[in-house]
Amino acid sequence: MPNHSILIVVLAAGKGSRMKSAMPKVQHKIAGRSMLGHVLKTCQELGAESIAVVVGPDMEDVRAAVLQQVPDARICIQERQDGTADAVLAARDAIANHKGDVLVQYADTPLLTSDTLKRLRARLDDATGVAVLGFDASDPSGYGRLLTDADGRLQAIREDKDARDDERRVTLCNSGVMAFRLDNLLGVLGRISNANAKSEFYLTDAIEIARSDGARAGVVVCAEEEVMGINSRDQLAVAEALYQKRTRLAVMLEGATLIAPETVWFSYDTKIGRDVVIQPNVFFGPGVTVEDNVEILANCHFEQSRIGAGSRVGPFARLRPGADIGTNVHIGNFVEVKNSVLGDGVKANHLSYLGDGQVGAGSNIGAGTIFCNYDGFQKHRTVLGPGVFVGSNSALVAPVKIGKGAYIGAGSVITKDVSADALALERATQEERPGWAAKFRALIMRRKAKAG
Ligand code: UD1
Ligand code: CA
Repeated sequence: MPNHSILIVVLAAGKGSRMKSAMPKVQHKIAGRSMLGHVLKTCQELGAESIAVVVGPDMEDVRAAVLQQVPDARICIQERQDGTADAVLAARDAIANHKGDVLVQYADTPLLTSDTLKRLRARLDDATGVAVLGFDASDPSGYGRLLTDADGRLQAIREDKDARDDERRVTLCNSGVMAFRLDNLLGVLGRISNANAKSEFYLTDAIEIARSDGARAGVVVCAEEEVMGINSRDQLAVAEALYQKRTRLAVMLEGATLIAPETVWFSYDTKIGRDVVIQPNVFFGPGVTVEDNVEILANCHFEQSRIGAGSRVGPFARLRPGADIGTNVHIGNFVEVKNSVLGDGVKANHLSYLGDGQVGAGSNIGAGTIFCNYDGFQKHRTVLGPGVFVGSNSALVAPVKIGKGAYIGAGSVITKDVSADALALERATQEERPGWAAKFRALIMRRKAKAG
């Protein structure tokens, strides 16, 4: 029984100079995750037994990011960028140690799905030693062309710069993704020369060499969008838009209503429950979970937060990292929550900052409440028991604890703990001067009359 375990070699050595960035190209993000992160996720979904990532020298950050996501990935360094075949050969040891199929993928092609990779892999068999993922290009210039015979079998890939005019007219192009089932893949790669327009070692030459050894080459075609390569920031934005479109559709198919889907921005890991309704202009940063039956009103920004079932959030609400919102909570306009747990049924409907706190179930946070969590050096916690009523425009100066069922009078600056069921208020006694306003108005009128 042949061994069909899979090694994926991800090419990520390109600096990506057209991004005009201090950061390697593959670290740029789509929906909150790096392009390379997306590609690695796809490799994992495919069930790859081994993953090798080819990076350039001085790409320590890329190495660290890869190992964080795939701890047993091999990192291979390509010292000089001498072409895609040379890049694959940087993973020589991984290939030599692997018995099974080898799949080569580019790190700057983040929209490729594992379903398409599965189709590509399924094209391999004992006779078909190479399978290439192709697409019908709306504008083929710059791409390698897939040259097929009358029976549609792949004969060669011709790079744009090396192609004759009749070959250039071919619109079936090489996506760059290839799968190999060859006993002597390293031997084939070793025979590739750099006698071409770019003086580079082209991986695409592997097709003709493998065929001359008796292997067959097949093509699998996918949508152009899916194999879009990112070279510049405008292409990054196009890829982002495509990714968002895909994600919005998936979210709606899973039972959420998006009133204006094109205005809602998801992160790669956003989790949205059933019967969630999302109004226009909502942005999800990474790490957000929205449970069932939540209503999100317009213009909100969320990251690393949970919104419990049946809650209503917004309009104009901001949930920052560590906001843990219980069930049936109401969070209204201009309320910011950070690193705080809000118990079930809490209401904070207007203009508040709740940072580094804990709010017991059923508590009511009045308009303009501030948890003063920072003293210029350290962050401190504000802890409210259940059923607390905080009157409007109160400042709770942390560290401070408010007992169960206590009331805070409006406008108070609370610096000391409050016991359960007490009323705490901190404000000057109200003074009243009967008739003062009427006398004041009369005085003004007299002065005006005198002045003529
Ligand atoms: C390549 C293909 C072309 C295909 C196109 C699809 C070759 C020779 N050509 O051309 O047929 O249509 O992709 O986008 O393979 N890389 C390295 N080290 C290198 C060179 C490249 O790691 O020395 C990596 C790059 O970072 C990139 C990928 O390989 O992720 C492709 O390299 P690139 O130079 O962009 O190839 P193209 O000229 O676009
Ligand atoms: Ca390219």
